[in-house]
Formats: sequence, structure tokens, C-alpha cells
Amino acid sequence: MTSRDHSRHVSSGHISDDVRRRIDDLLGQMTPAEKAGQLTQYFYFGALKDMPPLDGSDGPSQPEMVHQALKRGEAGALLFVTDPAEVNRLQRMAVEETRLGIPLLFGFDVIHGFRTIFPVPIGLAASWDPDIVETAQSVAAREARAVGIHWTFAPMVDIARDPRWGRMIEGAGEDPYLGSAIARAQVRGFQGDNPADPDRIIAGPKHFAGYGAALGGRDYDEVNLSDSELWNVYLPPFEAAIRAGCRNIMTGYMDLNGIPAAGNAWLFTEVLRKIWGFEGFVVSDANAVRDLATHHFARDIADAGARALNAGVDMEMAIFDPAFHSLPDKLAQGHIAEETLDASVRRVLEAKFRLGLFDNPYVDEGIASATLDEARHREQARIAAERSAVLLRNDNSTLPLNRESIGKLAVIGPFADDTREIVGPWTFNDDAGETITILQGIQDKVGADVEVLHAPGIRRAHRRFPSMFDTFAGSVPDQQPDFDDAAEFDRAIDIARSADIAIVTVGEWQNMIGENASRSSLELPGRQLELLEAIVETGTPVVLLVLNGRPVDLRWAAEHVPAILDIWYPGTQGGAAVANLLFGEVSPAGRLPFSWPRSVGQVPMIHSHTTSHQPEKQDQRYWDEASTPLFPFGFGLSYSSFDYTDLKAEPTAIAVGESLTITVTVTNTGTLPVDEVVQLYIHQRYGTASRPVRELKGFQRVTLEAGASATLTFTLGPDELRYWNAGIRDWTIDSSTFDVWVGGSSEATLATTFEITES
Ligand code: BGC
Repeated sequence: MTSRDHSRHVSSGHISDDVRRRIDDLLGQMTPAEKAGQLTQYFYFGALKDMPPLDGSDGPSQPEMVHQALKRGEAGALLFVTDPAEVNRLQRMAVEETRLGIPLLFGFDVIHGFRTIFPVPIGLAASWDPDIVETAQSVAAREARAVGIHWTFAPMVDIARDPRWGRMIEGAGEDPYLGSAIARAQVRGFQGDNPADPDRIIAGPKHFAGYGAALGGRDYDEVNLSDSELWNVYLPPFEAAIRAGCRNIMTGYMDLNGIPAAGNAWLFTEVLRKIWGFEGFVVSDANAVRDLATHHFARDIADAGARALNAGVDMEMAIFDPAFHSLPDKLAQGHIAEETLDASVRRVLEAKFRLGLFDNPYVDEGIASATLDEARHREQARIAAERSAVLLRNDNSTLPLNRESIGKLAVIGPFADDTREIVGPWTFNDDAGETITILQGIQDKVGADVEVLHAPGIRRAHRRFPSMFDTFAGSVPDQQPDFDDAAEFDRAIDIARSADIAIVTVGEWQNMIGENASRSSLELPGRQLELLEAIVETGTPVVLLVLNGRPVDLRWAAEHVPAILDIWYPGTQGGAAVANLLFGEVSPAGRLPFSWPRSVGQVPMIHSHTTSHQPEKQDQRYWDEASTPLFPFGFGLSYSSFDYTDLKAEPTAIAVGESLTITVTVTNTGTLPVDEVVQLYIHQRYGTASRPVRELKGFQRVTLEAGASATLTFTLGPDELRYWNAGIRDWTIDSSTFDVWVGGSSEATLATTFEITES
């Protein structure tokens, strides 16, 4: 079956006739410069106060330039203002001091929390729990809206298959099915039913599209993706987010198949608007419109503005000298049409009406602190951190620990007592004073009867090239001049030797992951492996806690350390969550949202590869190392064990276009109540294209009492069974035989089959 009807139109809430008339009325009064201004978003924050104009002139400082633009009615949105009094001060300039009084939109990167920090997005995805993901982003939205933020540049829904790319941490990993489910949950969390509600904000999935496939994993570098990869892998999470009602989309920075994403008419006009029916507004990534000239695509900055607008970018995010300020000239010269300009302004004004800003432009400065202080936000962050942790190894049931049998506990490593590292990147407004470190969480949990010793062991490692975030915060990380390497190393080993158990933290420092944080290696930075080896050498049993936003090289640890728990960057309540996991108050049930490679030489590595010549030697593609992952996609252990039985397809044959159900019974065969993530994979045995050996097509996270069983039902319909076929350049559902596996990871063994017959 093929279908030319791509336009499964999205209904995204209607604008009333009255609002339409008010927008028409405003458009009728606006000058071209005011229209271009509505389409301009400026950065506005303290770090820019000394920034000289880009052209080297001695013109006004960046914030002063924004004030001037604001008063002329030539700024439509700001980003990075997070103080409610400041929001109101700037909003008053727009509403009270401009000719038309159009309110500003305030945007911000609310990525994994605002004041209450949740696990980083890859960690949230590892929960395989859309409900907790939705809750996390609803708390983030509530806190952000309380200080006057209307719109977040999130979720990042870019598929990431190359962990050298640091922004893998901001997404949901390698898989389009999981990625789509997590994208939907995040959009619902931020926006709820209506972004105008006082505790919601507009969601802006990013970076459209393909940004995660940067050449060599190098952030911002070009991306070349086949049609099949785009439609089957990279675009689905965007479509899912749009179907969930997101009101904004952000462009990417890079070239996609030779055309800069921010000037790519096919992406915005054809895919986003025509095929998917997106009605919200598109914002460029920061300075990405000007970058069209950097790409040697646009002739100059003015041409860049016109080309971006014509391609379908509605708003430019800019620091200085927006390219969109040339739009009036471009209009006069006939390079852009009045209707195109008006359509973009209309979309931005619609967003402001939808948010209720024309009626109520100001934030209530009195409520912000009470909202940010709400205890239940911290409670939700702890639950999210517990649910995101992934148990990678647990030999001899090393975990959970038994408090009664421990006299002395060593907590070692540079991340163990650090309030900055545990919250991860993309956090600007958290309160370090309320952040629970791993050391503190453990101390609180074990109480006075257990002696808890701590040593960092090693100093922090540094980037060869500093992160823009380091310099921007005015704080390239401290070089720790007083740190005595030899003495600290020995002290850590001594306390490990004297303890009944050593809990060791390893990972990447948070400025080594995220934007502008690509790596050429996956090794643990600094002397971490050396420290770990020396601790293991003492003979004290070791529990390893990994703080990461991408896979790191754990080959040595996977052979020598009995227990490994991946906690990501678990957030404000990370220490409390980790303590609950270590001492068995909850069982880890998170699962890997990516295939964990053994070494960087294997990347990219995915579970859903196709099969090819000599598949029996699939694990021997390299002569020097197994070509299998260290830990497979969907993998994660539990403090309990499970049995899967009674896998059935009903009916066992369907026609093209029909649906079937898959049922399975899962039993908790252990002695603890725990969660299990039940995963369903399919494989098409033959057809009009080669299909992956396994593709995720369903999952459910379920809670099972000890000994309890649950029978779960999954539906496989046209959405799950179709794929984009490069041969016919369209969607297709093949008649074929399909394998189905259901179990606790991508290596599930319980199998059945069904047929799709010609209709
Ligand atoms: C990033 C975006 C982010 C924007 C604003 C850019 O550099 O690529 O993801 O939303 O900055 O902070």
C-alpha cells in the first residue's frame, strides 16, 4: 500500500473571529519596520552588557541596543530574562512606551527544570515513562511561568546516534519510536491543554531537522541524511510533537543535505506546513539567520533575512544586528512579498493572543517565590531521578545495600559532594543550597549508625577548549590550585580500604556534555579510571555511580566492578534518589535509550540496523573488538526478575491497512514490588525494502507486586507497520511475515509471528 496523502492534518486549537479581527487591525497599522520587529527576538542578559557591536563600531552596548529597539516597537520577543521584576520592566517598555503597545514574548531554555532541576533529558527518556516525563515538564513550566517566561526552547527531539555529539544529553536517544513518545509527553507537560493557563508555557521542539547527525559528531557541522533516514528516523519525533499540539518549532544551525536548515524551504514550507499542517510559529536558532551568509548560502546579511523568511522562518533569534531588520528594504525591493511578511507576523501575534498577553501582559511578582518554593516540585524531581536510573550490572546481588550490615561506607569521587555537577548542563536558576548531593543523600539515609567517609580522590579534569557556557557565566572552572593530587588520591584509597563498601562516582564534568561539547573519545576524563582501578584493587566491594549524558567507556568497569548504576545528572534531588535506589527503597527500572558502545571506534551503533552479508558474523565486523554493544538498547537490570509467557498475535493474519493486537503476560518472579519496562519489537522478513533486524514498536512501564502477573496488550496498526520506502519514495506497508519479540530489552527472546496479506 502506498499513500500520497501525507497530510494527516493537525487541529491545533482555533483563533476566534474577534482575535482575527484584532490581528488584522494591528497589521493594518504596523509599518514594515514594526512588522520586522515583531519577528525579532533578542538575547537580553547581564553577560552581554559589555558586548561591543558586531561591526566594531562604538555604538550602544547590547542591552542598550535592545532598549532602543524595544522603544521603537522593533523587538517582538526576548530571551534569557528570568527575574519577574525585570520581565515587567521590559514588558512595560513594550506595552506602555511603544506606538501600538504590543506585548513581548519572553522565551528561555527551560530544558530539564527551572529552579527544581530534574534529570537531564536523556535521563528522563531512560525512565521509559511518559507520565513522569510529562510531570517533570509540567513542573518546569509552572516554575518558569511564575517568573514571567512564556515559551521554552524545548524539548530537543533530535535523534542522536553518535555519542561524540554532546547534545545527545538533551534528547531521547537513538530511537524514533521512543523519541516520539517522549516528545509527546514533554509537549503535553509544558503546554497542557492550553498554553494560556497560568502554569503553562509554549513548547518549541528543536532543532528542525537532522541536527543530531552532525558529521563526526562535531556540533554544528553539516548533516547528510538519506530520505529514508529522515522520514523513518529523524522526522517522526517532530511530527509527534506537532500532533501533540506544540505551538513553536526551532530551526537547526547546520546544513542539511547541502542546504542550511534555517533557509530550507523544503523543511518549513513543504514538510512542516503543507504535509503536517503546523500552524504555530518557527524561530531560528540563535543567529542562525545571519549564519545563512556564514554558510556561503546567502549573499549578505540582508539576503539572509529575506531567504530565511521566504523559506518559512517566522522569527529570528539574534544577539546583535538582526538580519530581519533589512526586511523593510527587502519588501521595498520586491525580494519578499507583503503576504509572506504578514503571515509570519500573524503567527507571532496569534501566539501572544493565545497566551493571553494582550489582556494580561505582566507577571505577578508576588507569587513567583511561593511557586518556586513548592515542596511537591522537589518530590517530583526525586521520583523522576529514581525512575530514570539504569542498573547496568549487579553481580551477586551487590545492590541493594543493607544498612544493618554496613559499619563504614566510603563515598568517593569528584562528583560525590558537588551541587553543580549533579544538576548537569542547561541549568541557570537552580538553588545550590537546596540541592542534595550524593554524599548528603547517603548520609541522610544511613543515619548516625553508619560511618560515612568521603574523598574526591582526584581534581577535576578540564576541557582543552573551554565551553561557551564557562566563559559566558564568567567562570571557567576552578583549576583547584590547592588540590594535593598525591595526598588526595592516597586518602581516597585509604578510606576505600577501611570501608565495608565503596560507592564511587565517575562520569563527565557537566561542562563536557551539552551544546558545544563534542568529544573525540568516550573515555572517562582525567584520572578517574586510575582511581577506580586502585579502589577495586583494595578488595572492598565497589558500587559505581555513573554521571553522564552519553555512553562513556565502561569496558574495564563492566568486567571488574560488581555493581554499576547509571544515574545520569539526576538533578536537585539526585542525592536523595540515589540513596533510595542504593538501599532498595525503590528498584532501578530505567532502560537505556541508546546502544552503549564499547569504544568510540564503534560509533554510530544502533540496535535497528538492517541485516546483510554474513549476518552470523554480525558480532565480528571488526577484527580487534566485538562489533556488539557493551549494553544493548532497552537494557537495564532490576532488583527482581521477570518471566514472559503467552505471547499471542490476534489475529495472526491481517490485510494491509488493518491492525492487530499483541498480548503477553509478564510475571515478577522476585520478592520485591518493582517496575518492569515491557518492550515490543518487530521485524519484517521480506518486502520492497530491507527492514531493520528489530524495531521498537511498543513499550509499557508497569508496576508489579512480588509474584504478581499482568497481561499487557499492544496494538500494531498502520502507524507502526508503515515505513518510508526509498525505492518508491513514499510510505508503504508491505505484505510480509513479521517476527514479534516482547521482553525487557532489545534482546528479548520470546517470539511469535503474524502475516500481512495483500488487501
Ligand atoms: C542552541 C539552542 C538554544 C539557543 C538559545 C542555541 O545556541 O542551539 O538550542 O535554545 O541557543 O539559548
